[in-house]
Amino acid sequence: MRYDVLNILRVKNDYISGEELGNMLGVSRAAIWKAVTKLKNEGYNISSVSKRGYRLIDNKDVLNENEVRIGNIVCLKEVDSTNEEGKRRAEKGCADGLVIVSDYQSTGKGRLGKSWSSDKAKDLYMSIVLYPDISPMEAPRLTLIAGIAVSEAVNGITGLDAGIKWPNDVVVNGKKLCGILTEMSAEIERIKYVVIGIGVNINREGFNAELSDKATSVCIETGKKYRRALFIDEIVSRFMKYYGIYRERGFAALKDDYNRLCLNKGKIVRTIGNNVIKGRALGVNDKGELLIETDTSIVPVLSGEVSLRLEGDRYI
Ligand code: BTN
Repeated sequence: MRYDVLNILRVKNDYISGEELGNMLGVSRAAIWKAVTKLKNEGYNISSVSKRGYRLIDNKDVLNENEVRIGNIVCLKEVDSTNEEGKRRAEKGCADGLVIVSDYQSTGKGRLGKSWSSDKAKDLYMSIVLYPDISPMEAPRLTLIAGIAVSEAVNGITGLDAGIKWPNDVVVNGKKLCGILTEMSAEIERIKYVVIGIGVNINREGFNAELSDKATSVCIETGKKYRRALFIDEIVSRFMKYYGIYRERGFAALKDDYNRLCLNKGKIVRTIGNNVIKGRALGVNDKGELLIETDTSIVPVLSGEVSLRLEGDRYI
C-alpha cells in the first residue's frame, strides 16, 4: 500500500492531505500516516505539514524492489559483494536469472584480484545468477553479451556513445564507465552456475586522483543524475533478450552487435601476458575470441586468457 501512496505523491507533485489519500486508497488517515513513515524510513524525502498533508520533496534515487520493472530481484542496502551473495544464493538453488543489487559493497571485487570501490547509493552494483547449459569454455561469451547489454542501455538512456573495450569494459570518451566480472562454479564439462557481476558508475560526481583520468560516470559525462532503477531495467531486459538469442543460436548471432560496439576493432592492440601478440584487432569471431592480425597470421585470442593494451590507451 505504501507504494500506492508514493505513486500518488509522485504524480501530484504538491501537498495532498492524509484524508484525501485515505479516500483514494480506501484506508484510514492513520494507515496513510503509517505508510508515509515507512516510506521515510526507506529513504524517501517526504514533507509532512499539518493542515496541508504530504508532499514528495525530490525524486531521490531510492533503490528497492518497487522501483524496478523486472520481477526476479533482491535489493540490499549493504553486502560484501553482490557476486559473493549471488554465489551463496546459487549454492542454495535460487531461481535462474535472479538479480541482486546493493546500495553498497564492503568488499566489491574487480577483475584480476583487484577491488571495486563503492560510492554508497550512487552507482550500480549488480549480479545476475544463471544456470546455463554450456561448457566452462563458453562462459566468457556471457560476459561479452553483458557488455553489449550495458553499452546499449547506457546509450539508450543517456544519448552517450558508450562502446566496449574487449573483452568487457564499457568505455565512454576513453574512460571506463562499467566493469564486468563473471564468476562460475563448474565441473570439467558443465557449468553449475554463473554469476555475472556488473558495476556501472552512474551518479558518482568524481574519482580520486589515481582514477580520475581512467574512470568516469554517467553523471560526470552528462552532468545529470539518473535513477539507478532505470539502468537495472534496461540492462537486465537487454541481457535476458541477448542471452535467449545466444542459447538458441549461439554467439555467432550476436557477433555483429558486439563488433559494432567494439572500440578495439581496426586499432593496433597488444596482449599483456607471457606470449605477447601485437597487431590490428579485426573484431570478435563466432566464439567471442578477438582476432588479431599480426605480420604473419590471424591469431584468435580468448577473453579471460589475456588483457589487452590499446596503443595510446589511458587506463590499463
Ligand atoms: C572489473 O574489474 O572491471 C570488473 C568489476 C566488476 C564490479 C562488479 S560490481 C557488482 C559485482 N560485485 C562485485 O564484487 N564485483 C562486480
